[in-house]
Amino acid sequence: MTSGPVLSVRDLKVEFASRRGVLRALDGVSFDIGRGEVLGLVGESGAGKSLTGAAVIGLLEPPGRIVSGEVRLLGERIDALPERQMRAVRGRRIAMVFQDPLTSLNPLYTVGQQIEQTILAHLPVSRREARRRAIDLLKEVGIQGAERRADAYPHEFSGGMRQRVVLALALCAEPDLVIADEPTTALDVSVQAQIIALIRKLCLERGMAVMLITHDMGVIAETADRVAVMYAGRIVETGPVAALVGAPLHPYARGLMAAIPRLDGDRERLAQIPGAMPRLQDLPRGCAFCPRCPENFAHCHVERPELVTRGEHRVACFLYGDGLADRAGDDGAAPAPEMDGAPGEAVP
Ligand SMILES: Nc1ncnc2c1ncn2[C@@H]1O[C@H](COP(=O)(O)OP(=O)(O)O)[C@@H](O)[C@H]1O
Ligand SMILES: [Mg+2]
Repeated sequence: MTSGPVLSVRDLKVEFASRRGVLRALDGVSFDIGRGEVLGLVGESGAGKSLTGAAVIGLLEPPGRIVSGEVRLLGERIDALPERQMRAVRGRRIAMVFQDPLTSLNPLYTVGQQIEQTILAHLPVSRREARRRAIDLLKEVGIQGAERRADAYPHEFSGGMRQRVVLALALCAEPDLVIADEPTTALDVSVQAQIIALIRKLCLERGMAVMLITHDMGVIAETADRVAVMYAGRIVETGPVAALVGAPLHPYARGLMAAIPRLDGDRERLAQIPGAMPRLQDLPRGCAFCPRCPENFAHCHVERPELVTRGEHRVACFLYGDGLADRAGDDGAAPAPEMDGAPGEAVP
């Protein structure tokens, strides 16, 4: 077993080719996830979070494809494996959990049967042993009366209990990595908190790496050890959760933080980031967030910022790094746009 990260993604680029041209949906995405660590991948809808998960697990739907970069699982390249080998990796070493638990469950079999079958498919154990392990797994994910509930069908469980069953299924093959894509989004807030706590517990106790994909900064704050904030197919800030939640640097990350739902559930008063994420086919020339950014200056319109290290953070924003912001307006590259106007229109 290696001492390096469980998952290592380097400079991942994903494109969709169409008759109208090539869309780059992921552009230079890099991150690591270690044993017992939850990496939270957060960003608005369309940022590229699910594509990142799909690319890692080899489930990009054509014409989407990885055009460059590397994905390593315990040091071994998995981004160019033949489909048959990739299927083995998916079943055995990487498990997926989706927003809707019913997509992972067969309505025609009891949950016990499904877990037993999955165990038998992956591990060299007897039926009897598979049954025993299935019940242990149901207990581990917090199903009360597991011996009895094992004989119930998916429709006999509530949404939160179903997601627990899906987590038990994901654990059957003792995976190194779990990719959970919006696992709590369909659940009531109180149930969300329980599933989040369960994911954290399983990650720590089993030493798994977890990629937690969500649009909800609140979920990230509760669950993740480290955070990667995505915008328009790129990571714009990463860092430990305390640093990122406590003192986000990127104006987009700050906007997401302001949008964490309050405990009293009054969503009306959420601060929203004005505007919308640009479509991939009309990304602005400079920073993709620039048109919505309250702090943009001339240079943001002409060059795309790369990630730079700032304390515990890595951040892709010209406010940080090389003092460009201090020279705002006199870098000679473009006329300074009106700071309070519609900045996106300042560049032809
Ligand atoms: N089949 C596809 N064809 C073309 N573009 C796609 C396709 N699937 C996804 N995309 C592009 O990738 C972007 C990111 O998608 P996705 O990863 O699903 O976002 P999210 O962060 O909401 O999970 C989408 O906004 C879209 O522009
Ligand atoms: Mg998604």
